[in-house]
Amino acid sequence: KITMLTAYDATFAAVADAAGVECILVGDSLGMVCQGLSSTVGVTLDTMCYHTESVARGIRRVQGTAWIVGDMPFGSYQESKEQALRSATALMQAGAHMVKLEGGGWTTDTVRFLVERGIPVCAHLGLTPQTVHALGGYRVQGRGDSATQLRQEALALQDAGAAMLVLEMVPEPLSTALTQELPSCHTIGIGAGNGTAGQVLVMHDMLGVNLGKNPKFVHNFMEGQASVQAAMSAYVAAVKNGTFPDNAKHAWV
Ligand code: KIV
Repeated sequence: KITMLTAYDATFAAVADAAGVECILVGDSLGMVCQGLSSTVGVTLDTMCYHTESVARGIRRVQGTAWIVGDMPFGSYQESKEQALRSATALMQAGAHMVKLEGGGWTTDTVRFLVERGIPVCAHLGLTPQTVHALGGYRVQGRGDSATQLRQEALALQDAGAAMLVLEMVPEPLSTALTQELPSCHTIGIGAGNGTAGQVLVMHDMLGVNLGKNPKFVHNFMEGQASVQAAMSAYVAAVKNGTFPDNAKHAWV
């Protein structure tokens, strides 16, 4: 199982790395948790580069090994493949090892274009927060008939060369089935049950520090722990041994 957590600054990134977190996602969720925005839509590429540089510096300082995934923010890849390449280049030069972009069919050509040019890509399907307004809110995706479309998009993204795929708020049977069907693209679940190849959480959520209500699928790993590093290590252990997430609590059927 692959462990991924978000981090947005040098110190927390270094602590996560020391706790054994394998992938640090510099998520555009920083718009909500760091900037106080109501969604990720207002996050800019400059802001993403600033935080990616900070995370990369923190990991370098402790000679860490975490794989850094930089989120492509809203408006930085929708226009054209060339625009996406410019934005991805900026994130890679800021210290990312891989970029993540949200969306289905329409992103496939962009993913292929980036991968062919040596940029590892993580795709993101299901609840895609940048398009939350079009989706009608933060709700489960891929139920009923829309499961077929999500499956086709996932297969197309694998075919285009995406090496990872975040599946957010997708029913557990669908994310488990996709994990079997995507041998060369590692599925990373968030609110998608525990059949995926890895898990990701927003760091503030799993530490029990946030301004709103925690999503139902989040567990507060700070409970009973004496330090942030211990909480992150508990998260790593729970993902590795399969106790997080608990399908009984998180099955979206
Ligand atoms: O921005 C982010 O933190 C994300 C995760 C919720 C997967 O995209």
